[in-house]
Amino acid sequence: MEFQAVSDSFEKLDVEALAIAVFKDEKANEGLLQKLDNATGGLVNSVLEAEEIKGKDGETAFLHVVGRDGLKAKRVLLVGVGERDDYASAKWFQLGGTATRTLRNKGLKNIAIVPRSDGADETVASTIVQGAVYGVFEPDKYRTTDKEKRELEKVTIVIEGADKAAISNGVERGRIVGESMNFTRELANEPGGHLTPTGMAERAREIAGAFGLHIDVLDRDRMEQEGMGSLLSVARGSEEPPALIVLKYTPAEVGEIEGLLAFVGKGITFDSGGISLKPGENMELMKYDMTGGATVLGAMRAIAQLKPPIPVLGVVPCAENLPSGKATKPGDVVRAMTGKTIEVINTDAEGRLILADAIAYAKKLGATRILDMATLTGAVSIALGDVNTAILGTDQDFIDEVVKAGAEVGEKFWQLPLDKEYSKQIKSDIADIKNVGGRKAGTITAAAFLKEFADGVSWAHLDIAGTAWGDDAKPYRAKGPTGVAVRTLVRLVERASAR
Ligand code: BES
Ligand code: ZN
Ligand code: ZN
Repeated sequence: MEFQAVSDSFEKLDVEALAIAVFKDEKANEGLLQKLDNATGGLVNSVLEAEEIKGKDGETAFLHVVGRDGLKAKRVLLVGVGERDDYASAKWFQLGGTATRTLRNKGLKNIAIVPRSDGADETVASTIVQGAVYGVFEPDKYRTTDKEKRELEKVTIVIEGADKAAISNGVERGRIVGESMNFTRELANEPGGHLTPTGMAERAREIAGAFGLHIDVLDRDRMEQEGMGSLLSVARGSEEPPALIVLKYTPAEVGEIEGLLAFVGKGITFDSGGISLKPGENMELMKYDMTGGATVLGAMRAIAQLKPPIPVLGVVPCAENLPSGKATKPGDVVRAMTGKTIEVINTDAEGRLILADAIAYAKKLGATRILDMATLTGAVSIALGDVNTAILGTDQDFIDEVVKAGAEVGEKFWQLPLDKEYSKQIKSDIADIKNVGGRKAGTITAAAFLKEFADGVSWAHLDIAGTAWGDDAKPYRAKGPTGVAVRTLVRLVERASAR
């Protein structure tokens, strides 16, 4: 799929279809819609007057334009984008996705999107393209029949009167971020049998080679040398060896840089629960338990190409959580890299065990700000559903930065408290801490566990268990992996660069 940006008027564009945003209850009596209405001989107005589309989020109306010389494109897709006052990143993104997904499904090849921009043209163009790339992703890699074969060839972003160089730049950056989100989604969708910890490391090597990142992968021996007993305890039950992926982006010109930002992501390529085996229902979904890790890889893939002026570290501990005669047993005590001892009450609370050593290792490599992300608890879905990603941490300014970066790109985060009282729940009778804190406040006590390993740095944690997987398709995306947080991570780095 090829992209281009133009700043001309849409009437003469040689495309098969035009997709244009329509606000809630909008009529075709001014601006772009009026222009489109004139070019189509009143067709747009008549559809809006008939209330076939009211401009609500995700609504669409597809029109064939016959016998009108005013418009070269012979099809128009009206896309509802909701209230005019809420028209920002999330809506631009969804418009891009709905346009490409809907028109691709109609078998078209060459389309244009008219986003209606009021100034922030470059960001609008970039976000529309992110959504457009995102929209055509299909999770049907292993299907051999009825596979989605239709493909868009060319997508033109039309922002009349915009600075051509700026919107072209936006388009290119948007493509990079959109493709990186799809990279994350593709990994998240891979079955555990296809994507092992070794496979994750291979994929990381591919992006490091393609886009110029430094990479180091620690194997079991090196983990032992580092004393990573917590991470190793999770991998014990599996025939597949663990891997700790370390990626580093270093800008060409390193100016005065204070500190090092690190992203750390949970890479459990399959979570059966281990000896504390999960129930069978929906267990197949636990292939996406490496999404935190895939999010870090996706973000690093984008950052390597966008080349911001600050260095970024990506750390992804990978393991498979399976039961076997060698597996860690409930009640076992393991020793983390920091020297802390952990009583493993439940082998299904394995994410925090691998993150503990990964956070410690990021610190060893010089990280001063650590943002970790993980499909860590089922409890987060009960608390926040699939709308907000939970954020917790020890540095309020850092948390605020992440939340703001999210708001700018249209991703929602909701902070949960992390008062020290919660840490009482993870006190162990025989070791320093235990890996579960009982039934109450499961998402918070999981974070309280991680906090034990994040002292001395600015730290924040994202629990993406509720938001990383979409149970239903939406007009702008397929069901399955959502790629949540990739855009926020990229934006966070851009914001840090701008300071
Ligand atoms: N990977 C799961 C969390 C999860 C559940 C992610 C559902 C996505 C969907 C995690 O390793 C886990 O099993 N957590 C346990 C913790 C409990 C044993 C304290 C949970 O949430 O039940
Ligand atoms: Zn688990
Ligand atoms: Zn897990």
